[in-house]
Amino acid sequence: MSLEKPLSYENITHGRIEQLGIKLKGLGLTVGEVKEALGLDNIFDLYPLEYKYLPLFVERLADNPTPLSHIISFLVLGLPGKKDIIEQALGTADLELLGSIGICTMDQSDVHANFTLLPFEDLLIATDKVFLNVDEYGRDQYLSSDNLVWRLDKTSYIMARGLVREKCKTALDLGCGSGLQSLIMSRHSAKVTGVDINPRAINLAKFNALLNGIGNMEFICGDLYQPVNGQKFDKIVSNPPSAPGLVKAWNREGGISGRELVEEILSGVRNHLEYGGICQTTLHLGYNEDKDITLWLDKYLTEKEFRNLIIRHSDEKEAAEYALQEAYQKSGPRDYGTFQRTYQIYRAGLKAAGIEKITFGLLSAKFVEGGAFLPIITADILKEPISRLAADHLAPA
Ligand SMILES: C[S@@+](CC[C@H](N)C(=O)[O-])C[C@H]1O[C@@H](n2cnc3c(N)ncnc32)[C@H](O)[C@@H]1O
Repeated sequence: MSLEKPLSYENITHGRIEQLGIKLKGLGLTVGEVKEALGLDNIFDLYPLEYKYLPLFVERLADNPTPLSHIISFLVLGLPGKKDIIEQALGTADLELLGSIGICTMDQSDVHANFTLLPFEDLLIATDKVFLNVDEYGRDQYLSSDNLVWRLDKTSYIMARGLVREKCKTALDLGCGSGLQSLIMSRHSAKVTGVDINPRAINLAKFNALLNGIGNMEFICGDLYQPVNGQKFDKIVSNPPSAPGLVKAWNREGGISGRELVEEILSGVRNHLEYGGICQTTLHLGYNEDKDITLWLDKYLTEKEFRNLIIRHSDEKEAAEYALQEAYQKSGPRDYGTFQRTYQIYRAGLKAAGIEKITFGLLSAKFVEGGAFLPIITADILKEPISRLAADHLAPA
């Protein structure tokens, strides 16, 4: 299997892949049914499913062994399944199709998932596996935190919920990953362009468009605006790597301030957004006082030219707490020396950048003259109707 193009669907009739998507949704691979089968309280608990609950999920599915519970165990959790059972649930032709595309691999008696299929709204989205290394037959070792195709998480969920879903002609999704935001935007944009630096993501995004029967989009591999040089869009959307971290990575971290990629995106907005258009991006907000955020933003999207709104998550963390959490994630609980050193490096980096508080947020900006002063709203962005808040604020007074 190729690392960069793990799925092969070029020679398969596109309608056949769309039928597969319809069949999987019909069998119950939908948000409501998966949430219920796994016993989750909230829809956002799906994004991502947490590893610590995996044994509980397995138990719940085993308590109620239906064709759907076998499919969820196989295609959502990525656990190996018995070939005859999965074949019964999916049908021989569709299981063979999943195999020939590369979604799964089969031996004589077992099936092994190579990817996760997760429902989101009315879509079905393939990403790299949500749980790596749960199947010893799997070939997950070659995936790094950089090259794996972003698994749908809270940032994906917040970006999708925050999208202003007004009709427009053209939309650009920077760092499209699996294509989630592009697919949602394709419902209200005549044409969507998704760009990602990871070729593996482009391979999956194209497959996801086929699986959901969506045609008005293109996916291009490249660095931010480079593949769309000279083009303008009515909408620019991004859920970029923005976590304050020690590196600038493809998937999660955006340098010590977290802002490195976000700043590149914002710097390109004036050249790539049509007048009257909307740009939306998620970002981690690292600051000491609120005015730090407004001063920073004004460097890129000036108050004179843009009507801006930041919706900040009410779950704000002290920088020390954030550094602790990141260091713990990196070093784990067993190696106190590394944990302590990593914490100190994070903490010192955040201090040097003047960051004392960190939270996650959604920035929405409309390219219109004489924008209003910048309000920062604080809300529970997992629960509040953030798309409406953004749309109302950006609409002409
Ligand atoms: C946090 S993931 C978001 C994926 C997807 N848009 C979502 O919301 O689920 C960030 C994505 O940005 C991509 N990316 C990082 N740096 C990039 C760059 N310079 N140009 C294009 N894409 C980039 C990564 O490969 C990754 O797919």
